[in-house]
Amino acid sequence: MSEPNPSSDPVAPAAGPGAGDDSGLTRVVDAGRRFPKPVATANLPVSRASTVLFDSLAHAESAGQAAARGERHATTYGTAGTPTTMALMDALAEVEAPGHDCRAALMPSGLSAITTALFTYLSPGDHMLVADSVYGPMRAFCDGMLSRYGVRTEYYDPLVGAGIDALIRPETRVVYLESPGSYTFEIQDVPAICAAARARGVLTMIDNAWGSPAFARPFDWGVDVSILPLTKYWGGHSDLLMGAVVVREPLWLPLWTAVRQLGVCVGGDDAWLVLRGLRTVEVRMRAHQQAALRVANWLAQRPEVASVLHPALESHPQHALWKRDFSGASGLFSFELRSDAFGSDGQARGLAALCEGRRHFGIGYSWGGFESLIMPAQIGKLRTVRPWRGGPLVRVHIGLEDPAALIADLAEGFDAMRNAVESPPTD
Ligand SMILES: Cc1ncc(COP(=O)(O)O)c(C=O)c1O
Repeated sequence: MSEPNPSSDPVAPAAGPGAGDDSGLTRVVDAGRRFPKPVATANLPVSRASTVLFDSLAHAESAGQAAARGERHATTYGTAGTPTTMALMDALAEVEAPGHDCRAALMPSGLSAITTALFTYLSPGDHMLVADSVYGPMRAFCDGMLSRYGVRTEYYDPLVGAGIDALIRPETRVVYLESPGSYTFEIQDVPAICAAARARGVLTMIDNAWGSPAFARPFDWGVDVSILPLTKYWGGHSDLLMGAVVVREPLWLPLWTAVRQLGVCVGGDDAWLVLRGLRTVEVRMRAHQQAALRVANWLAQRPEVASVLHPALESHPQHALWKRDFSGASGLFSFELRSDAFGSDGQARGLAALCEGRRHFGIGYSWGGFESLIMPAQIGKLRTVRPWRGGPLVRVHIGLEDPAALIADLAEGFDAMRNAVESPPTD
């Protein structure tokens, strides 16, 4: 088969002018498409494409075969990749897995990255072990759709460590981790879990939203698949949704095949925004870390607060594991309020007063953007192995505002909470 000729221009006319070339219809289709030479710019241009053009039928066929084999940068159509999405795929593998031979695929949200990875590597009859502290919608997917497709999910205590071995069965195919856990911030002994799973031929997947890309290197810990909600710190500006699955090279072809069969893909504009976010993500995450630690230390001194669930505080029960495995802490953590701060019936009123009307903290479910957020945690039904037995939990994301302003805002929130509890409505 003849190789494509990269110097030829697939948009160029095959011959001289022909009938109808001068019509307005033709002109609006052709005008401006033959820009003579790309101009070098510091940031990559965004490419938006469904159609990919070839300079010959042989080129189209060879590109199709290369794309089916999962070769890097091979594409036949926008769903398989454009220069912008392929640049992001390369960048993610390089940044998430330095020193490891890994590949990355893109999905339209973090949740779709989770579901695509699970559909790829699980089959009916398989058993999966999932950390009890996972992100809620992941749990809903396991208990709903995956269960209908014949996959059994068993939740495990996130503090199980090497004890995971005792839970592995002949039909166990995947151990799914998230560290720290959603809302309760347990740090798992990921290397011990991965070593036990590998010894039994079981795949490990981790949701690496909290520590990636600045502070966590899951492939050094031994995981096989890292799931990245790029919506969070990678994008960093609360203006896009995207996810990625990063896998060791031997796992790439099944993932890529699933992505193409499912038609999962992202647009060039959003991929370009993630590439732009990537340029500043280390600096942003270090700023989030610094501000969050200041707020966390302040919260730990408050009389209304029973504990602060932040892995970088020495008071955190798995602080030693965090110190061993992570190189920093992002801006997301929770604090537990003292149950007796609310009297017998003031909890809902008090929490509303604490969260509503803040100057700098929005009420919102996401995190990882430039802005601060606050949200009470509703985890009652989301824990079956390790139920939360403490007081009311509130999760905060510390943004890039001045931490002094955030502390003053929370102090006002505590005043409002106390007033709401002490003076209930009179109707
Ligand atoms: C830990 C974690 N994983 C995955 C997701 C899903 O990401 P997305 O919002 O892009 O679907 C979230 C979203 O909040 C999350 O907190």
